[in-house]
Amino acid sequence: MTSSTIRSRCFLVVLLILVTLPAAALDNGLAKTPPMGWNSWNKFACNVSEQLIRETADAMVSSGMKDAGYQYIVVDDCWQVSRDSHGNIVPDAKRFPSGMKALADYVHSKGLKFGLYSDAGAQTCQGRPGSRGYEFQDARTYAAWGADYLKYDWCHAEGQNTIESYTLMSKALQASGRPIVFSLCEWGSTKPWLWGKDVGNLWRATEDIVNCWDCKEKWGGLGVVHVLDLVDGIESYAGPGHWNDPDMLEVGNGKLTPDENRAHFAMWAILAAPLMAGNDLRSMDADTRAVLTDKEIIAIDQDPLGRQGRRVVKDGDREVWARELQGGNRAVALLNRAATPQSISVKWEDLGYPAHVKAQVRDLWQHKDLGSMTGSFTATVAPHAAVIVTVKP
Ligand code: GLA
Repeated sequence: MTSSTIRSRCFLVVLLILVTLPAAALDNGLAKTPPMGWNSWNKFACNVSEQLIRETADAMVSSGMKDAGYQYIVVDDCWQVSRDSHGNIVPDAKRFPSGMKALADYVHSKGLKFGLYSDAGAQTCQGRPGSRGYEFQDARTYAAWGADYLKYDWCHAEGQNTIESYTLMSKALQASGRPIVFSLCEWGSTKPWLWGKDVGNLWRATEDIVNCWDCKEKWGGLGVVHVLDLVDGIESYAGPGHWNDPDMLEVGNGKLTPDENRAHFAMWAILAAPLMAGNDLRSMDADTRAVLTDKEIIAIDQDPLGRQGRRVVKDGDREVWARELQGGNRAVALLNRAATPQSISVKWEDLGYPAHVKAQVRDLWQHKDLGSMTGSFTATVAPHAAVIVTVKP
């Protein structure tokens, strides 16, 4: 064999290896911890406007949410009405009279980030123009407006392939020249945890959350505990830059009890879930604000190790969920799904620690050290509530 034949064969082998290697994880440098922010959908649905978004940005600052770590203000469905003769997406001029660039500028002036919503199909879920066929043009438009986050839905996408459609928009966003968090929203239908990290920063793992503890809607909407059941088992796919998304928060939206609000929020923290508030920040009561801004619970969610927790004990309505934290400690939730108080225990073995180990236990909602314990910790947990503690050997 001549040396040039050897060289060309080597080249072919290298090419073959490169082509068959799995795509590298998307590295847009964003969402190293789960994104925190607010999204209009859960509370306002299609009733969005620039006034709402500006007031929400103001409230995010004045309520202390910005200081607690919330950043993104995302306008969900219904901001868009049509396309112009050049194919450019047109916002609703009645509801957004100053235009999206001015709105993004306002949000940025508050030290916050701005997000938008679109859909991989021809129309959004509310029948507004989707991005199908306009991916690169839309991504350029969002970037020109100053968007920092795109939630990308999956309605009216019949016949489309999820991986191809989401990859196309991912490439369009990367080509836009602006770092934009990419939030995939195909409701878990094609197991996005298996492929999402090459494409986006977070992916919805379930159908839509609904504002209740354990109801199920005929159209697929799920109460808090049903969402939990669906995200247990996919924890190994989450990590810095790429998260399972159990959907936006219903905290403070009027149906969950104070204990249910706390449990919902704490469980999302155990899950390393994106924390997208979904309530009216302008008028929330003190208790809702205390839940959403609780620094100790948020620190669990934002733990830099980025390990999603999982259910380690299921005993009827009594459950224990645990999450590894940086430094080898654990965050533990004792979750009572029953309508009566329950005594719930976690054994150190459930956490991967030997039984003889002494560990410091701290109750995060009470902001109180409970002392040193050996082997296990037990608490009486109120109905539909979670006691959340750290365990530090
Ligand atoms: C879908 C999504 C929701 C919301 C609506 C908007 O149902 O899953 O989160 O964005 O569409 O129409």
